[in-house]
Amino acid sequence: MTRTRAAITAIHGWVPPDLLTNAELEKMVDTTDEWIQSRTGIRERHILKGEGKGTSDMGAEAVKGLLKKRGIGPEEIDLLICGTVTGDHIFPATANIICDKVGIKNAWSYDINAACSGFLFSLVTASQFIETGKYKKVVVVGADKMSAIIDYTDRTTCVLFGDGAGAVLLEPTQEEYGIMDSILHADGSGIKFLHQKAGGSVMPPSRQTVDQRLHYVFQDGQPVFKAAVVGMAEVSAAIMEKNHLSADDVAWLVPHQANLRIIDATARRMGVGNEKVMINIERYGNTTSGTIPLCLHDWEPQLKKGDNLILAAFGGGFTWGAVWVKWAYDGSHP
Ligand code: UT7
Repeated sequence: MTRTRAAITAIHGWVPPDLLTNAELEKMVDTTDEWIQSRTGIRERHILKGEGKGTSDMGAEAVKGLLKKRGIGPEEIDLLICGTVTGDHIFPATANIICDKVGIKNAWSYDINAACSGFLFSLVTASQFIETGKYKKVVVVGADKMSAIIDYTDRTTCVLFGDGAGAVLLEPTQEEYGIMDSILHADGSGIKFLHQKAGGSVMPPSRQTVDQRLHYVFQDGQPVFKAAVVGMAEVSAAIMEKNHLSADDVAWLVPHQANLRIIDATARRMGVGNEKVMINIERYGNTTSGTIPLCLHDWEPQLKKGDNLILAAFGGGFTWGAVWVKWAYDGSHP
């Protein structure tokens, strides 16, 4: 019997118009454009401004663009999954709010919290619903308003992150395209190096938590860097070996955009040349769940049917993984 696979049949990304440049950060904290660019590769990032604006607003823009490109209405969507760590509220799920804003009424929806691996975990989860044959159109969103949880007096984190969103549509295919394989990992002992201390059930919000600035990203950069270099490189190499893919077989590495040095290490381990690596960290910074779909959006015009893509991420949790995708259409028009 022919196997049903989940193919990506459309992609769209959205970032807010306002920019935060390295030059502006130089005026806010003790940093330099030279330090930021040489240590991370980031030049500028987009910031969502406006009262009452949240992650769902960016996710909704990405999904609206996606439906328009595919030429389908919101009522055709069966399920929407949103990867995010900056949901509009503790509850309900941001996925529900995105559906409401887009007019998706015949679907159910929920969020997945896997930090920087949020898009990959959501994509793999969504693909299972297609592979069972029960669902025909599933939307996967990766969206984060990181500026909502960044301390702009902390130079070690505020230079790294930006806001943005991307979305893909998954549909069934009997052909050899789509989500081909995945390897995903989680290790909760990584919490000590990367987390948000207050706001959850362990440390609910109080005057003290606000005064002590505990509602922001805390990161011990060096241990995260070391774990990310090993984790992302090894899992990317592992998925190639498992599926007998050589560096020549890989058309594109689509890495999470946390640090240019982590991306370079991953490409080197895979034996993949720089010309095959999607890198847009200089324009967006680290948008957490948004990075991988924003790469796919930016490179969509160059993608060809049959291209082998390795999507790879490492982030808070720790969570990490790699997904092998065989691209299902040529260029921008799905
Ligand atoms: O996506 C989620 C997962 N996160 C990641 O993958 C991030 C992983 N970590 C990293 O990318 C890097 O560790 C950072 C970019 C966060 C930091 O780079 P680093 O090369 O590891 O720097 P460091 O933390 O070892 O700091 C080196 C120096 C320190 O000064 P001293 O102690 O040597 O005097 C820092 O205080 O750089 C200083 N520093 C800065 N200087 C200027 C830290 N942040 C800044 C800054 N501007 N913004």
